[in-house]
Amino acid sequence: MLEVINNITIDDIRKNNLVNKEVILRGWVWNVRSSGKIKFIVLRDGTGFIQLVVEKNNVDNAVLEIAEKLTQESVIEVRGIVVENSRLKFDKNKSNFNVVFIGYEMIVKDLKLLYKTQDYPITPKEHGIDFLLDNRHLWIRSSKQFAILRIRNTIKNSIREFLNKEGFIEFDSPILTPSACEGTTTLFEIDYFGDKMYLSQSGQLYVEAGALAFNKVYCFGPTFRAEKSKTRRHLMEFWMVEPEIAFATLDDIIDIAQNMISYIVSKVLENNLYELLILERDISKLENIKLPFYRITYKEAVELLHSKGHEFEFGQDFGAPEETIISEAFDKPIIITHYPKSIKPFYMKLDENREFVLNMDILAPEGYGEIVGGSQREDDYDLLLMRMKEENIPLKEYQWYLDLRKYGSVKHAGFGLGIERTVSWICKLDHVRQAIPFPRMLYRYYP
Ligand code: 4AD
Ligand code: MG
Repeated sequence: MLEVINNITIDDIRKNNLVNKEVILRGWVWNVRSSGKIKFIVLRDGTGFIQLVVEKNNVDNAVLEIAEKLTQESVIEVRGIVVENSRLKFDKNKSNFNVVFIGYEMIVKDLKLLYKTQDYPITPKEHGIDFLLDNRHLWIRSSKQFAILRIRNTIKNSIREFLNKEGFIEFDSPILTPSACEGTTTLFEIDYFGDKMYLSQSGQLYVEAGALAFNKVYCFGPTFRAEKSKTRRHLMEFWMVEPEIAFATLDDIIDIAQNMISYIVSKVLENNLYELLILERDISKLENIKLPFYRITYKEAVELLHSKGHEFEFGQDFGAPEETIISEAFDKPIIITHYPKSIKPFYMKLDENREFVLNMDILAPEGYGEIVGGSQREDDYDLLLMRMKEENIPLKEYQWYLDLRKYGSVKHAGFGLGIERTVSWICKLDHVRQAIPFPRMLYRYYP
């Protein structure tokens, strides 16, 4: 008698050789079709998709009857034998039901209906983006969303893995903050028992305190910006990882940031080929992400824009169109340093001629634009105070931050990497809204 393996997932079948084994799977019906006397059911269990074959000769009549009436998203438990089937590959013609089968299928012996679903709203036909966003709580079950959010998980894990290996400590910054980090224009205001507080735009000022206490730290969490921009790159709530390092310079953090990005890409290639295939991602573009990345100054980036015939005034900040042009010109991430001080926040350290700052932005290739922003920080008390006065920063609220330059100040630097922008680039999405389970956008916050 064959041993039946219970408690396994489709992922287990894909990763371990379970051919000719009898297994039990539980999951949701993705699709059903008939071909003569055979029923083909596609099952999804949250870890993948597999085809189940129900043949008259192998099962009782009762099972056939259940199979006959199965509806999309009904829940079943199924027992059967795993067999190899190399013909089961991606079918481009089934748009919403793009499924990469895993090269295996199951010959069904028994089938139980655990829950009958009726009238599931997301059907195999094409749906508009508004309908899908209204149904985001269900849309996340679709194959592409499944692939994207699993890659997001790898990206987040690989970041923690990388920073742990480099000796960083996770240092949690607060979400409710009394003052701004990146300027006051994009703050969400909160009533804090009669006082004004804000949702955090960045944990940076707090990780700077952390770096002077623990040397290498990072915070990793949601960040909030009331940005009235309706671009494919902006969310109101997005996730950011922010490493901050004592005794580090601009060059040091450039090294860490590019090592981290190349580590992330290598981990996605190692763990998520299946998901990249579902997304029809050109994998060679990711395999090309090898160190070192390209590095230019703001000045050189402006010259590049001009050489491409793009009108741009020196001294302005790059917007989405400029970022796209620059990042399309490179096949690897591109590091841009030394922006004019007038377009960057008060905390960035000035270079010798005091016109530019010791900062860097990293733009992803293929037109994706900025994924990282960072800088060396102004560590001199008097210079920082001067910059804050120039920018009309209310000094009282930042007394604690100035303290860091009063008691054991050292040069230090750090950066922030946006998770959704990184996911968008690696998955080649047309909008960041698909890179997070429940996107918060201008005028859209349901569900
Ligand atoms: O360049 P930013 O504004 O840098 C900071 O917040 C620094 N305080 C970070 C630091 O040095 N610790 O934001 C960093 C990154 C951007 O490069 C981008 O990837 C992402 O955060 N980001 C957004 N992602 C989605 N939607 C938005 N509205 C974003 N704004 C920034
Ligand atoms: Mg930035």
